[in-house]
Amino acid sequence: MGYLSTDKVKHHFHDVVIIGSGGAGMRCALQLADAGHRVAIITKVLPTRSHTVAAQGGINASLGNVLSDHWQWHMYDTIKGSDYLGDQDAIEYMCRAAPLLVRELEHQGVPFSRLEDGTVYQRPFGGQSREFGEGGQASRTCAAADRTGHAILHTLYQQNLRAGTHFYQEFFALDLITDENGCQGVMAWDIAKGEYHLFQAKAVVLATGGAGRVFKMTTNAHICTGDGGALAVRAGLPVEDMEFFQFHPTGIADVGPLITEAVRGEGGYLLNGDNERFMLRYAPTAGDLASRDVVSRAIALEIREGRGCGPNKDHVLLKLDHLGTELILAKLPNIHELALRFAGVDCTKEPIPVQPTMHYTMGGIPTNRFGEVVSKGADGVEASYPGLYAIGEAACVSVHGANRLGGNSLLEIVVFGRACGNQVLKRLRHHRYHPPLAPDCWQAGMERVEGWLRTAGKQDGLKIAEVRLRMQTIMQDHFSVYRTEAVMAEGVERIEALAAELEHAALSDGSRIFNTELVEALELDHLMALARVTAAGALARTESRGAHARDDYPERDDADWLRHTLAGIRDNKVELDYKPVRMQPMTVPSFPPRKRVY
Ligand code: SIN
Repeated sequence: MGYLSTDKVKHHFHDVVIIGSGGAGMRCALQLADAGHRVAIITKVLPTRSHTVAAQGGINASLGNVLSDHWQWHMYDTIKGSDYLGDQDAIEYMCRAAPLLVRELEHQGVPFSRLEDGTVYQRPFGGQSREFGEGGQASRTCAAADRTGHAILHTLYQQNLRAGTHFYQEFFALDLITDENGCQGVMAWDIAKGEYHLFQAKAVVLATGGAGRVFKMTTNAHICTGDGGALAVRAGLPVEDMEFFQFHPTGIADVGPLITEAVRGEGGYLLNGDNERFMLRYAPTAGDLASRDVVSRAIALEIREGRGCGPNKDHVLLKLDHLGTELILAKLPNIHELALRFAGVDCTKEPIPVQPTMHYTMGGIPTNRFGEVVSKGADGVEASYPGLYAIGEAACVSVHGANRLGGNSLLEIVVFGRACGNQVLKRLRHHRYHPPLAPDCWQAGMERVEGWLRTAGKQDGLKIAEVRLRMQTIMQDHFSVYRTEAVMAEGVERIEALAAELEHAALSDGSRIFNTELVEALELDHLMALARVTAAGALARTESRGAHARDDYPERDDADWLRHTLAGIRDNKVELDYKPVRMQPMTVPSFPPRKRVY
């Protein structure tokens, strides 16, 4: 590995640099390291703390271990779940590849739960059907109890250690190094040592996860700050469909941690304040296993109409004690513990108080199904951006469209982690040498840190934590489960004003060694950029589709809005553009938009 040092910046050469050590980054790295390339993963955390570790319920694949299944039924469900905003070529690719990738995980060592006959355990999840919606509920979600993400992440980490992937942990990516030939590397900050590092690479992969911390109430870890999307925006690229944030129906009331959809898959159900199984009114066929946007809206409506539970009638109850202690402890042990710790409830005896909680970022960095970042050139034609790739929740490929089905995110990370790895391998065949970089290429990244450090101790500066909380509160209040013109327009105004105020924020700690306040400031830069584009994109979309539900435009509008939003920031102003949905699958007929009922 080449390693040059100046007194200011340590300079590394790798074939590929992947930013992010979740399942997508790890799967991509494995593909490349196993092929003999020099692969670096840069991660701001210890690798096994990446947010994939928190995924509970499982990973979808039409294995048919419990009930007969077919990848085309999975494809149909995913397109319907996306409210027809998903790109059908990418969805076909994902659903076809799913069985192969799950078997591969099994062989790599993921300790899946098992059926009596030794095959991988599969449970029903929301929005799943057989025979294109005609054959009843499917059972498609492969699970390792309710710790599936944990099992997958640890296995992929171990495989990467075997393959020789180089981990730079507790490194924060500051800036993409780009020139007229594309992306050449990344500038990073070593959080522990307070040093700058320049990583030169023939390909850079953004695998940084979602941006859930834009909102106040979220199942996402504190690390989910949309770093990759914001780095792309800094580099002048747009992000796609950011107005679509998924609210998971069952976050623990008031605090947010996730209670997996697997609880309802195993037979749990929701009750309102009248002790009614209200989901049967909203989704007569699928009931509690309707897709997440449908269930979250139903809960929000029950609460809004005064049928919530508790003294403030602000949540509903998730009942599972009838499943029996043995099943709960065997298949949902993590839920049992989370409910005890965060709600003080023993779920083998009592229901868990839950409410919709921001869970997943459907939008992200626009890519094709090979993981290449795509953008429109000056001629208006979309093309891939040389040397830059994005995968996983950071990307918008777009397989989830306006609403993701549970169990499809663990699938997406391995399918597109591998697809992207294969595409990078092709690039590496023709890009054998690192081109020279502009001599000052690291300065913009360095100035981000130095600029924040110069604010340290400023007497009248706003606190980072205070600005972050105000941003999260604005997003929660103005861009939640139900949206209207007036509420969102005020939200856009408030978020723009707050973004301007961020200029006056200051650190209280000016040290360079493990300065967590500095890291939070850098993350806040990222969150704020994504909050701005989310707000603008949501206000502009005058229809209801998937997770974007408007009281004032209650219907989906395919004539005007069957298109993806592209939102970027130029000269400190948000700019919106649009592009068509890819309705043509790779090999099978298209699924045209239909009324979406469950
Ligand atoms: C869950 O287990 O409900 C979350 C899994 C997912 O979001 O796919």
